[in-house]
Amino acid sequence: MSIMEKHVVLEKNSILLVIAIIIVVAIGGLVEIVPLFYLKSTIEKVEGVRPYTPLELAGRNIYIREGCYNCHSQMIRPLRDEIERYGHFSLAAESMYDHPFQWGSKRTGPDLARVGTKYSDQWHREHLANPRAVVPDSIMPGYPFLATTELDTRHLADVVKTNRFVGVPYTDEQIANVDADVAAQVNPDDKEAKAFAARYPKAVARDFSGDGKVTELTALIAYLQMLGTLVDFKIYDDKANAR
Ligand code: HEC
Repeated sequence: MSIMEKHVVLEKNSILLVIAIIIVVAIGGLVEIVPLFYLKSTIEKVEGVRPYTPLELAGRNIYIREGCYNCHSQMIRPLRDEIERYGHFSLAAESMYDHPFQWGSKRTGPDLARVGTKYSDQWHREHLANPRAVVPDSIMPGYPFLATTELDTRHLADVVKTNRFVGVPYTDEQIANVDADVAAQVNPDDKEAKAFAARYPKAVARDFSGDGKVTELTALIAYLQMLGTLVDFKIYDDKANAR
């Protein structure tokens, strides 16, 4: 019997055919899944990536609450046009502390994975209050209430703790100093500034909302300004090339 003739047996018996399909598909699945169990981590460690500061985390929660992800992605694909427009493609490590991640699935507006330091705080203040003030054709909605809504930090320590619960390596010291770290990040002259910088290396501390207040706008701008700034790609690419 030739192989074609044997195949006729399968084609004429649907139960056999289904069983054969399941076996073939399972082999494909196993080849993809089994290696993952033998890897310590599917995320390559990258220098510079640190957990969010409490203020950035609060800003991130506002980003999620306002549904910014409906129009903005945070995932630069390794395609030439994306890299030329947005910068280095996103690394898995860059969102390893994101719960939930904000890769997004739709770009009505541009990708925000590397928007940090692209604009001044003043630009963000004007843009978030009324996007048309700085980008006349913008269809992004305005969020003027953020500037007048005091940041509610009552549950921020719990948010940090919850992040630790799902795997972000916050220390006891970081959890004990949530309020102090919010105060220190908006005021570089704060007495806790040094301790804050030690707890969150290279975190930027300044008066993000420009009025000395800690509003929802302050937190959101602190978050936007750090997006994509943690990894020094000059070092990263040199190391990757040396391998
Ligand atoms: C209805 C879709 C929509 C929503 C919702 C939205 N945006 Fe936008 N966003 C846009 C569009 C379109 C642009 C491009 C025009 C502009 O700059 O305003 C943009 C631009 C931006 C930019 C400038 C990006 C760049 O590289 O120039 C930032 C920052 C930004 N949005 C932040 C936010 C934040 C934060 C939120 C949530 C509070 C948000 N957006 C919600 C559509 C949206």
